[in-house]
Amino acid sequence: MQTLLLDITEENIARAASILRAGGLVAFPTETVYGLGADALNADAVGRVYAAKGRPSDNPMIVHIADPEDLAKLTPKVTEEMRTLAAAFWPGPMTMIVPRVPEVPDTTTGGLSTVGVRLPSDETARALIRAAGCPVAAPSANLSGRPSPTTAAHVVHDLDGRVDAILMGGDCDFGIESSVIDMTGEIPTVLRPGVITREMFAKALGAEVLLDPSLNRRPARILDPAKGAQEDPDFKPKSPGMKYKHYAPKAAMTVYEGAPEAVRTAMEAEAARLRALGQRVVVLDFLAESATAEEGELTAAHDLFAALRAADEEGADAILAAALPEEGVGFSVMNRMLKSAGYHIEHV
Ligand code: TXA
Ligand code: MG
Repeated sequence: MQTLLLDITEENIARAASILRAGGLVAFPTETVYGLGADALNADAVGRVYAAKGRPSDNPMIVHIADPEDLAKLTPKVTEEMRTLAAAFWPGPMTMIVPRVPEVPDTTTGGLSTVGVRLPSDETARALIRAAGCPVAAPSANLSGRPSPTTAAHVVHDLDGRVDAILMGGDCDFGIESSVIDMTGEIPTVLRPGVITREMFAKALGAEVLLDPSLNRRPARILDPAKGAQEDPDFKPKSPGMKYKHYAPKAAMTVYEGAPEAVRTAMEAEAARLRALGQRVVVLDFLAESATAEEGELTAAHDLFAALRAADEEGADAILAAALPEEGVGFSVMNRMLKSAGYHIEHV
């Protein structure tokens, strides 16, 4: 398949929108990561997204809308809580899991009776969705299992020849995927942490917000010499996409936890040892150059996936990464970093 690489112009957005309306696939920038879009109400089109990504079909898609009123077209009843969160965080990096209307096909929701809805703040994304005139199902625009794409070049690398068009925007502002909050239970529950934290949700609602228990659990790393890392059968996150074999770079990755100075010393020693063996080593220490912890967390979010892809590009054998304090956005970054490392942790 010939993939159109489209600059961001009004004309090209209209062209991309008509591809979506015709059941085609278009990758586009958002403020979190690039998405691979299809008409969310067209099961055949959504099926092609799974095929292009090599994604398991039990993993539901997030449905993107351009205007808050469109939420009412996807869920039978917009509750007061949904309205409050929409007013507080949309447009922006929040996905709400809500009951779905029957018009949303099983293919889009992985057979679930709920649907994830997000209203992105990125102007290109919103213009595209508006012009398409339909809700747009869009997972991250990477091949399944690879780090999420935060630049147009990442998308071209993974999906050129597999999709109809790629809207070639700039770098994504945040670099990690949206916060996913489940609004279908008694107490709202964060299923995937992002730059909007549990504390921010609780403050906006003036009520308790839970974390899916799997987010605080580090699954046992079950190693089978024949097959490599296996999934821990007791690790059952509520969000199908949060199973831990994900975001993986090709290099062997280790996360170092401990006091910052001890971590730096240990990483340097290990890097020197591996380099002496002829290995290419990448060291990631996002907090080292940041003035404040908050700035460091946002830099880490912005740079993590790009750094993992760059390591692969340069043929790194090993990646050594300093852990971040698991607070605020640091908690969300660590969620990705630990998965990327297959939960391979060195305590120093
Ligand atoms: O920032 C983002 O959310 C990006 C951009 C493109 O918007 N999209 C994204 O999509 O990260 P994806 O498919 O890579 O991740 C969607 C996550 C998965 O973990 C999926 O299992 C979960 O959301 N999810 C979607 N619908 C769900 C549902 N109905 N119930 C539970 N989890 C759901
Ligand atoms: Mg993804």
